[in-house]
Amino acid sequence: MTLNEIIALDKKYFMNTFGDRLPVCFTKGQGMKLWDMDGKVYYDFLGGIAVSALGHSHPALVNAIIEQAQKFIHCSNYYYIESQAKLAQLIVENSCCDKVFFANSGAEANEGAIKLARLYFRKKGVPEKFEIITLEKSFHGRTLATLAATGQEKYQKNYCPLTPKFLSVPMNDIDALENAITEYTCGIMLEPIQGESGVNPANVDYIKKVRELCDKKDVLLIFDEVQCGLGRTGKMFGYEHFGIEPDIFTLAKALGGGFPIGALCAKEPYASAFEPGDHGSTFGGNPLACSAGLATLSTIINDKLYDNSAKMGEYFTDKLNKLKNKHRIITEVRGKGLMIGVQLAAPIAVKLKKKFLEQGFLIGSVGDNIIRMLPPLIISKDDIDMYIAALDKVLDKMS
Ligand SMILES: Cc1ncc(COP(=O)(O)O)c(C=O)c1O
Repeated sequence: MTLNEIIALDKKYFMNTFGDRLPVCFTKGQGMKLWDMDGKVYYDFLGGIAVSALGHSHPALVNAIIEQAQKFIHCSNYYYIESQAKLAQLIVENSCCDKVFFANSGAEANEGAIKLARLYFRKKGVPEKFEIITLEKSFHGRTLATLAATGQEKYQKNYCPLTPKFLSVPMNDIDALENAITEYTCGIMLEPIQGESGVNPANVDYIKKVRELCDKKDVLLIFDEVQCGLGRTGKMFGYEHFGIEPDIFTLAKALGGGFPIGALCAKEPYASAFEPGDHGSTFGGNPLACSAGLATLSTIINDKLYDNSAKMGEYFTDKLNKLKNKHRIITEVRGKGLMIGVQLAAPIAVKLKKKFLEQGFLIGSVGDNIIRMLPPLIISKDDIDMYIAALDKVLDKMS
């Protein structure tokens, strides 16, 4: 098929949720690179929106998927699953949580977290503690509950009435949070480094105070690490930057390296609030997804990809800050590790993204004024140098 034929099929048969996509269709990938139908190469600085942590077609991941698929793909959670038990063990042994439940996406993992927080208090004899406080500019998913949790009206406005008992307060404003907590609050759910709103890290002092408030008011602290977890920010988990531990955290995106899987991770005694029949999933934690997760997470840990993320993230932001001194259109470089947002003084983010596609680089845009980079954690200095040279040239031409 030609690209135009694929576009015509998509327009006719696929619901138009993604609008006019960038006009490219990939046929293969390797490491940082993807190739289109004409054999043109693209350097992937978006990583499938923080998903392709190992880059494309990493042999450990590909082999794990092939090996499991050749044995069997699915059996249901009525039976014990070796890769599920091993992946849960690997997450627990490398994080602050005691138990894990597997879902199929970030939104689903967050739904599980919300249910667990409510159930914990119900079983503790305080069923009226059901309200969840989140932060403005957050993103927690597209299901009805996670949409209500998401502190951005643009995602919510067409789906009212929203699922009740969610409210959001501004980030880094501890008084606003304290004032919002009532005897009905069961959890505070937040991204320690907000992703979808353009890479906004929370202040360390704020997060420490949030932890203290949660302890004082008997409220669970839930971190949504769907985007910032698993090495993305230069540490294994986002919470490590803040010197505190959440009671519950969620993962997805990078966990399967591209294979869909999400995880709800909780400390005790919260994890034990889920008892037989309280939660479940047909596909969640199936043998294929968990084999992909096991291969991806083992590689992140064994190859210390979080360290590469820290080093390359620093190198990348340094270079971007140097470009900022040269090009006035760049007003701020934000982020941690390889989760990087660049604030622009003019609404050229989409234009820049399209120009960059022509140059053979994939990046993301957030609104009109922010570009975002979430490259694979295997990225090298050479890749970054190439990107910086291209950005320098494009900005020269655009100014
Ligand atoms: C922080 C965060 N939470 C949740 C989600 C939703 O994940 P999914 O699209 O896998 O449902 C996303 C997706 O971008 C996210 O960035």
